[in-house]
Amino acid sequence: MCGIVGILGTEAVAGDLVEALKRLEYRGYDSAGIATIEGGKLDRRRAEGKLKNLALRLSNQPLQGRTGIGHTRWATHGKPVERNAHPHMNDKVAVVHNGIIENFRELRGELTKKGYAFETETDTETVLHLVTDNLKQGLKPVEAAHKALSRLRGAYALGIIFAADDDLMIAARQGPPLAIGHGEGVTYLGSDAIALAPFTSKITYLEDGDWAVLRRSGAEIFDLAGKPITRPTIVSTASSLTVDKGGYRHFMLKEIHQQPEVISHTIANYLDLAAGTVEFPDLGIDLKTLSRVTISACGTASYAGLVGKYWLERYARLPVDIDVASEYRYREAPLPENGLALFISQSGETADTMAALRYCKDGGQRIAAIVNVRTSTMARESHVVLPTLAGPEIGVASTKAFTCQLSVLACFAIAAGKARGHIGPEKERELVQALTQVPRLMSDILRDEKPYEHLGHRLTKARDVLYLGRGISFPIALEGALKLKELSYIHAEGYAAGELKHGPIALIEEGVPVIVVAPHDELFEKTVSNMQEVAARGGDIIFVSDAEDGAAGCKVIEHLHLPKAHPFTHPLMASIPVQLISYHTAVQMGTDVDQPRNLAKSVTVE
Ligand code: F6R
Repeated sequence: MCGIVGILGTEAVAGDLVEALKRLEYRGYDSAGIATIEGGKLDRRRAEGKLKNLALRLSNQPLQGRTGIGHTRWATHGKPVERNAHPHMNDKVAVVHNGIIENFRELRGELTKKGYAFETETDTETVLHLVTDNLKQGLKPVEAAHKALSRLRGAYALGIIFAADDDLMIAARQGPPLAIGHGEGVTYLGSDAIALAPFTSKITYLEDGDWAVLRRSGAEIFDLAGKPITRPTIVSTASSLTVDKGGYRHFMLKEIHQQPEVISHTIANYLDLAAGTVEFPDLGIDLKTLSRVTISACGTASYAGLVGKYWLERYARLPVDIDVASEYRYREAPLPENGLALFISQSGETADTMAALRYCKDGGQRIAAIVNVRTSTMARESHVVLPTLAGPEIGVASTKAFTCQLSVLACFAIAAGKARGHIGPEKERELVQALTQVPRLMSDILRDEKPYEHLGHRLTKARDVLYLGRGISFPIALEGALKLKELSYIHAEGYAAGELKHGPIALIEEGVPVIVVAPHDELFEKTVSNMQEVAARGGDIIFVSDAEDGAAGCKVIEHLHLPKAHPFTHPLMASIPVQLISYHTAVQMGTDVDQPRNLAKSVTVE
């Protein structure tokens, strides 16, 4: 959440700061701002809303400084208005911050007593006044910043510049990621390597507790006690090309349509397609004797994990403990000896998932992470990285990353089943073959979006929408409801179909849309009975199924046909309709599909 950039350059840096911020807009887009130093004076431009508003302001009132910091915000403390936008500054210091300063109330009280007037509701302003106060006490800028850091509790990535020295920038990391970029006589700072990719590929990642003194000639890194430390400089593979929509109306639609291709890449990484066998990386743990897997993730990634649980328990007879990371991290769950813990994340930066990972690592678990961003903190802190090959996902609502996560989990279930003696060579070939057919079958679904446009139009009038699924379709029902909520702002809930009569059935009245995900498997008849209960109360059933003869006599208002596929792959197939339903409803509602309100692509705060 929030993106940070900084440049110690040789010519005016405002243009490059905006360029880098564009690449960080996935982290937040409530407001944006930059500050530069010119002739020993700090000056800034800020604007509410998307980055284009800031770019417009800068074109009318340019900034010429050669040293600057920039920020794109996802509001935590204080409304998303210009007054609260970063950088926060006075005549001496300017600060950009990502994270939450947990003791900000205490600091604010202390600083107010000292006579500092707070202009914003942000926690970040306390950092500005702390550093300024230290300067007033006679400390030099570097010491002033270092002393201020020792007062902060919580999570932060910070960039600080000083009017008095335009060859200095302080960077600090405690939680959210931060990377230093090394150019020729130019030094950069960014929330990730992607932001800096147009300028340099030479990157040093700061670790938690690190802070750094950046100058044009290079960077020195210290620990919190002030002891110099060395961090490796790597050559980043982050692409400098800005990803475009490729002719699609939205990134989300492009990403939905990319799924057949990126799933092919992902499964090819874990399967030997010619031999029809699974080639899963060695996790450094004996899968045969493993007693349990712990899975933790947030949001959509947690639903991928839930599908993984059904697969691993059924096909590998491997018990799975799964929980959303925000709960898991505080549950004090007992951990098995020599256990395996698996974390799932598109960004690899989600704060709660990171905390759950560290809890399991401290508890002696072997750590594996399914991540899309290979340079992420989660990838770096795991024993084994299981990459999804989805490519950059720009739409804030996850689509292709989700189905790639499912693909890795499906391959893992086959590998674990094989290692544990529950999947023989014939079954292995059958399941591998089933997975290889997914891209082609998905393309078939994507060929005709008309039914989804039609349905989207109908759903715009709904106040509540229910999603039902049984067994392995239950997580897809949850994912469908989340996707509809976040994109169209229509209230939606996902339920296990069998739970309907334990409460949610009270919501059914004439015309309430109920989307039922029902593969034609051994649970089909049971789900149909639940549909009958909905139909009897006037609910409008939308039936997502590969059942050829329709809904076994139950009246449905729409049957979204899925091609016949192996039941093992059904969650992958059913993901496409639930994505398309949300997409087309959102388009017809006129919401901001790629950047829905209040959301951010990377959630680096709790
Ligand atoms: C919903 C969505 C979120 C993310 C969640 C975890 O469409 O994208 O629910 O899945 O914030 O993010 P990552 O996968 O980056 O850890």
